[in-house]
Amino acid sequence: MRTRFNPGRLLRPALALSLLLAAAIDAPARDTARGAYLVGIMGCGDCHTAGTMQGKPDMARPLGGSDVGWQVPGMGVFVGSNLTPDRETGLGAWSDAEIVTALRTGVRPDGRQLAPVMPYMGYKNMTDADADAIVAYLRSLKPVSTKVPGPFGPTEKPTLPYFTLVMPGK
Ligand code: HEC
Repeated sequence: MRTRFNPGRLLRPALALSLLLAAAIDAPARDTARGAYLVGIMGCGDCHTAGTMQGKPDMARPLGGSDVGWQVPGMGVFVGSNLTPDRETGLGAWSDAEIVTALRTGVRPDGRQLAPVMPYMGYKNMTDADADAIVAYLRSLKPVSTKVPGPFGPTEKPTLPYFTLVMPGK
């Protein structure tokens, strides 16, 4: 049987393709350079890059997780985690929205509230564009496989050096 030429059958895929191309062209390029700038001035590396607190940031593993923890009285000791796109030990398996929520509210995808050492209270008014730029920059990092220790509960013994709050005696 002879199939009749039906222009409608060609039109539909052509339309779908052009819509797809238009969407790709319309999507704004993610501002990785601004993200790098923001991550720099917001000091993420202070707490998320090993060595920074000793004045020698480990630039082989930028934002690959700290080697110094922070003790919060009554809460325990917390370590700035690996922010690189490694799936097992970093943020590789997190969605963009999950990262932005952690930045603005301190809530992790598993529901745990991050220790207030992570300055989410100061980041809560971050604009959508800045949050997106930070995520874009974090996604562009070289994945590093480092699982930071902790968090340690108030009665657990930390396995790494940590900062603490010393109350002066009266
Ligand atoms: C003063 C130190 C400090 C600074 C500055 C800081 N963080 Fe954190 N951040 C932490 C600590 C400590 C944790 C872990 C807290 C916990 O486990 O409760 C954390 C956790 C996180 C988490 C959750 C990751 C996870 O695996 O649970 C993300 C995402 C994050 N920080 C991103 C950032 C970004 C991006 C910046 C810069 C814009 C930044 N942080 C700046 C200390 C800091």
